[in-house]
Amino acid sequence: MKNLVFLLALTASLRTAFGQSAGTVSSIISKTTSSSSVKPSSTLPSLPDAAANHGAGQWGDKFNQGAGGGENSGGAQTAWIPTDGSTPPDEAVAKFLMARQAGLSSQYLYQLSPNLVDSAALRGFTGSLVPTLDTQDANLGGSAQVFLSHGERDTLSTTTRRSLHERSLCTNATAPIHLFSGLGNSVTILQADIPFDGGILHVTDGFFTLPKSLPDSLSLTPEAATFGSYLNSSNTSFDATPAATVFAPNNAAVLAALSTNQTLTADQATALVGAHVVTGYVAYSPLLISGTTLKTVSGPSITIGTGSDGSILVNGKSKIVKADIVITNGVVHLIDKVLFTPPSLTTPSATPPPQFTGAASWSPHDIRGTGWFGGIVWPVFVAAMIALGGNMVFGI
Ligand SMILES: *[C@@H]1O[C@H](CO)[C@@H](O)[C@H](O)[C@H]1NC(C)=O
Ligand SMILES: *[C@@H]1O[C@H](CO)[C@@H](O)[C@H](O)[C@H]1NC(C)=O
Ligand SMILES: *[C@@H]1O[C@H](CO)[C@@H](O)[C@H](O)[C@H]1NC(C)=O
Ligand SMILES: *[C@@H]1O[C@H](CO)[C@@H](O)[C@H](O)[C@H]1NC(C)=O
Repeated sequence: MKNLVFLLALTASLRTAFGQSAGTVSSIISKTTSSSSVKPSSTLPSLPDAAANHGAGQWGDKFNQGAGGGENSGGAQTAWIPTDGSTPPDEAVAKFLMARQAGLSSQYLYQLSPNLVDSAALRGFTGSLVPTLDTQDANLGGSAQVFLSHGERDTLSTTTRRSLHERSLCTNATAPIHLFSGLGNSVTILQADIPFDGGILHVTDGFFTLPKSLPDSLSLTPEAATFGSYLNSSNTSFDATPAATVFAPNNAAVLAALSTNQTLTADQATALVGAHVVTGYVAYSPLLISGTTLKTVSGPSITIGTGSDGSILVNGKSKIVKADIVITNGVVHLIDKVLFTPPSLTTPSATPPPQFTGAASWSPHDIRGTGWFGGIVWPVFVAAMIALGGNMVFGI
């Protein structure tokens, strides 16, 4: 995860620049269209042939069946094909991949985008949101599932005296591009921008990980196991919620806030978990712009900021230590401090933990707004609508 931490550091400085004014959101969106010079053409090889020419024929061949590949691509213009010898994520998927209708499996649909997404569009070091064709592993209010990409900034831009905004545009055109999917797993593009008759393909060093539910994602993330057990003790798993952002405190954070890993009652667990979940809005890391305010389900609003080391801070004190764990109904970010401790949870320590001091506005009632996008801040709402609903690549 070293790379991700590095990227987050880079990302945060841009957030400061963009966070100055809400109007910048439209300028972010205007940069989302791919600058591709690749033009699909019927004189180009089919997807399986193009993949085979670049060491990815083993899996590329499967993309010509059903929904994926070539002129029968079912709307896909970009494919991410694992290089020969890559192992599919699990046995069940592996069996399905071998089936005749492999192209219809969600694993394939998750590796296809309806957009033409070239390496330039994927390079934004602050991250790009890439829409896929996979609706089977998505509970996002009708939108298909996404994955995230991160490029890297060139080293020159960190040393020369340019504005933050100018520096943000200097992505390194030779550094690897990392793609983040379920469980926060990442793959790297080995060969980019290979044209085929229906679009372009990229050869990756492995398969994407299909997003899983929130309870399963937390229990499969060892650093978040304690918070995951509290989610299981609470009265909701947020499984049916069509969009959610979860700031999950890691095990050390929970221990520090509660002094011991107490067994919580359902009410206590519900209050604690709800203070770390935002519903109605999916705040993938490119949308965590400094100054953004979000409303949690059972706690006060939280504000996104930038740490002195360039990290993303929540409420000025909790650092995001792992971002963009894509789940079926949104995203999880791991944080290193509990955001709010519900009053019902007393701790043995003599002085209350610092997070109490800012929590004067704590109220136990449900402060979600009404309707789908109740809890969100307007400019980010616009960005999310377009990113999730408008079939665009969201890159900065
Ligand atoms: C781009 O990244 C590569 C590989 O990470 C590195 O060797 C090179 O120095 C970087 N170039 C710039 C201009 O930062
Ligand atoms: C508390 O810690 C113990 C020992 O580390 C562990 O076995 C147990 O599962 C933890 N309980 C919770 C609720 O996380
Ligand atoms: C929470 O419940 C899910 C099933 O919904 C289970 O798979 C998972 O292991 C549980 N997590 C913990 C930390 O107990
Ligand atoms: C869960 O608990 C909260 C707060 O105690 C309450 O507002 C909510 O209605 C409960 N939800 C369910 C599904 O029981």
